[in-house]
Amino acid sequence: MPTKESVLFILKEEEGSYISGADISSRLSLSRTAVWKGVKSLREEGYEIDAAPRLGYRLVKAPDLLLPSEIRYGLSTKVLGREIYYFDEVVSTNDFAEELASRGASEGTLVVTERQIGGKGRLGRRWFSPSGGIWFSVVLRPKISPLDAPKITLLAGVAVADVIKEVTPPSAGEVGIKWPNDVLINTRKVAGILTEMSAEVDRVNFVVLGIGVNANVDSRDFPSDLHPGVVSLSEAVGEKVDRVAILRTILRRLEEGYLGLQRGEFGPVLTRWRDLCETLGSWVKVAMLEGEIVGEAVDVDEHGGLILRDVSGKERVVHAGDVTVLRKLPHS
Ligand code: BTN
Repeated sequence: MPTKESVLFILKEEEGSYISGADISSRLSLSRTAVWKGVKSLREEGYEIDAAPRLGYRLVKAPDLLLPSEIRYGLSTKVLGREIYYFDEVVSTNDFAEELASRGASEGTLVVTERQIGGKGRLGRRWFSPSGGIWFSVVLRPKISPLDAPKITLLAGVAVADVIKEVTPPSAGEVGIKWPNDVLINTRKVAGILTEMSAEVDRVNFVVLGIGVNANVDSRDFPSDLHPGVVSLSEAVGEKVDRVAILRTILRRLEEGYLGLQRGEFGPVLTRWRDLCETLGSWVKVAMLEGEIVGEAVDVDEHGGLILRDVSGKERVVHAGDVTVLRKLPHS
């Protein structure tokens, strides 16, 4: 652990009380100069640290940033976030993570940024990613068949939706998932998931799981074509949310689901996904590259495909597309 991070963790443990430089240096077996240098570089990163003669140092305020040292403090995962790459700005965390993964980055590597200038959404769309959001990607190396890879998207949807549900008051409206993996609050999109994979016929090389949460952003700043369908967590909660705590919790939930998947325990995730999914039971129109199809969304299969039943009762599974819920039933 870098010196500044060990100094930071000690200051955090003191919960805003003073601790002397001598105490820090003996606890870390570091010289007083090294401790002072650690404090100096923390201040340069934006930490407000008070220094008082005879009392020592006191952490007054941490910057509102997704810094690796903030994420790591209290992170209880074993794999996700073992290695963290942090940017103030990057084109796309998915692209950066993919580059790292193709050069051998280890499982769990996390790429996180304050903003993206070329954020990517599903189906080749752009993803608006201003400061205040939580934009990140993780590198996974699952020992599963490429056919099972969509399960990772499903478990990520459940992890994100459950964490968002926990931080949002019931008065903000229902938290749910719109197939395939839009997380909604009161039918407006608060988070999205983009899973990209490098695989051979029978083997996954790596998966980049990209997640974007509209945390402390203003939905009115979104491009006008996106604005009506978008909401941020701060708008739903009524105040700014703790982005670092939310990211840590999402990582922990993701890891639980992911390790479960590797052990062959996917049933509970699918059950939870079905509970959260707002699309099931509705008549929908799905716009796909090959055209449109209309049907009743009756279920999701274990690969994440949406099972549609048309008016004649014929079922069809759809794997990618955009869903619109129809108000009027096709036969009414
Ligand atoms: C969607 O709903 O269309 C998926 C959006 C995924 C956005 C995230 S933000 C972090 C990661 N990097 C990207 O470029 N995209 C994903």
